[in-house]
Amino acid sequence: MKLNIKKQMRTWLAKILETRNLALVNTKYQKTLNLKAEQISGWFTPAKCEKLYKLTMVTNGPILEVGHFLGKSTASICEALRDSLKNRVFNSYDLGFISADEFKKFYNNVHQRDTEVPPLFRQIYSQNTTSTELAAINLRDAGLGNYVKLISGNFIDLDQNQYDFIFCDAMHEPHEIELNLPHVINHSSQHCIWAFHDMSDSNIDLVLRLSNSKFIERAHSLGIFLFLGTN
Ligand SMILES: C[S@@+](CC[C@H](N)C(=O)[O-])C[C@H]1O[C@@H](n2cnc3c(N)ncnc32)[C@H](O)[C@@H]1O
Repeated sequence: MKLNIKKQMRTWLAKILETRNLALVNTKYQKTLNLKAEQISGWFTPAKCEKLYKLTMVTNGPILEVGHFLGKSTASICEALRDSLKNRVFNSYDLGFISADEFKKFYNNVHQRDTEVPPLFRQIYSQNTTSTELAAINLRDAGLGNYVKLISGNFIDLDQNQYDFIFCDAMHEPHEIELNLPHVINHSSQHCIWAFHDMSDSNIDLVLRLSNSKFIERAHSLGIFLFLGTN
């Protein structure tokens, strides 16, 4: 009887130690990456910046970004390029609007309804500059300016290249997906990895309906897809 109690106590003790050790294992490496991107204004949360950093780390080949705005997502990609020591082409576009009127004209047409100009965009226009110029300053200040070519303008009109990893921040609702996805496809090499921001269930359904692609995962509203080529 005494022996049984001793055995039981040893089992409990072992369980307690195991739980305690597991707790240690689960906390020690739960660090954030503290990316420089987090200091730049924009809509990306730290978790999204980290996801983009990690995706860049595990992909290869040329990268296209649609929508750098002030360079927050761009910085996340640049930091991974710096850390991975991979010499990759990285082209990033943003519409070069300099007024709220230009913004409204473009987006009223894209969304097919009257579109509000967000305060962050108004701030840019009040400084008489473009998002690209401000992104260039932000990236230079973060020591990341050499990892990306920033281009002011519409990627649909200006870009001629094929990419292996595309981050597109211009897929927020069905009209924008219908407008931009065919062009993203045209710029995708077979097995290109896509990361699209703000992917609701219905947005994911639409991307899958309009392309030959496989849904991989959704992380912090970033939808990750594998492009399987044009049929
Ligand atoms: C949500 S913002 C991007 C935010 C940015 N990724 C960040 O981390 O803060 C979307 C941007 O996409 C740009 N954009 C939309 N359609 C575009 C296109 N066809 N070509 C280039 N840029 C585009 C807009 O000008 C806008 O600045």
